[in-house]
Amino acid sequence: MSDDAVDPRNRLNELTGREWVYALRSVISTRYPTKGAESFAHDLRRLHPSPKPPQLLAELVRFFTRRDGHVLDPFAGVGGTLLACALEGRTAVGVDLSSDYAAIYAAVCERLTLAPQPYIVGDARGLAGFPEVTAQPFDLILTDPPYAAMMARTKTGERKKRGQSAATPFTASPDDLGNLGYQEFLGALRHVIAGALAYLRPRGHLVLFTKDLQPTPEHHNMLHADITAALRELPGLEFRGYRIWHDQSLNLYPFGYPYAFVANQQHQFILIFRHLP
Ligand SMILES: C[S@@+](CC[C@H](N)C(=O)[O-])C[C@H]1O[C@@H](n2cnc3c(N)ncnc32)[C@H](O)[C@@H]1O
Repeated sequence: MSDDAVDPRNRLNELTGREWVYALRSVISTRYPTKGAESFAHDLRRLHPSPKPPQLLAELVRFFTRRDGHVLDPFAGVGGTLLACALEGRTAVGVDLSSDYAAIYAAVCERLTLAPQPYIVGDARGLAGFPEVTAQPFDLILTDPPYAAMMARTKTGERKKRGQSAATPFTASPDDLGNLGYQEFLGALRHVIAGALAYLRPRGHLVLFTKDLQPTPEHHNMLHADITAALRELPGLEFRGYRIWHDQSLNLYPFGYPYAFVANQQHQFILIFRHLP
């Protein structure tokens, strides 16, 4: 392996050997600026309950596509994936139920003087009905679906004590996967991904963010494990493993103190699948 050259056999990306190895670190630990030019208009994007940093998504885009690659995000929010693609010279199509998030994405593009990528306001369970989605195959599906009903729940315990108890659902729509029960959510997500796979090229990747819920006596609630199991049922989708995103900007709460262990969630899982139809 030559550290500083792109291997001529490499069809996946344009990384040198050294860059490839760096991109394999299992934990990505970040603290991105939330002010100034390096924040990529965080003041606008934070109107969404969980915007993803474009810089983080850009790292994944660079690994899983080549320049001019084409990327689908069926849960686009305020456009973390779409912004990353614009920054990295890739094209993308975003879908989200919310016209409010579409408008914020448009305002972010205007502020950053980036050309907006096609953004469809619609239900990701109907991808086949969107000509922008069906027009040409995607190299990558990079997405961050709701975390079952985590955001739609009123917060309890330490957050409640600090006056941060309000639920922050993405939308009020019954079509929002974030408003579904746990098992219903898993079925709906599998349905969306099955639909999206029809437009993912062979050997293309699905890269999906998720985080776990607190366990209950009834279930471990390791959503990353349940999503992996649900998506492995889809023919032609091979689970390749995961990376962890450690978001150092999140508060550490004294959950459970001084009685019992309650986990903090300062990390998310980045689940990686390959399409081998
Ligand atoms: C975790 S957020 C995505 C955030 C995004 N990565 C960003 O950077 O802004 C999940 C998104 O899924 C959207 N959503 C939920 N159900 C949907 C559905 N059925 N079709 C399309 N979008 C949906 C929500 O409106 C929400 O914006």
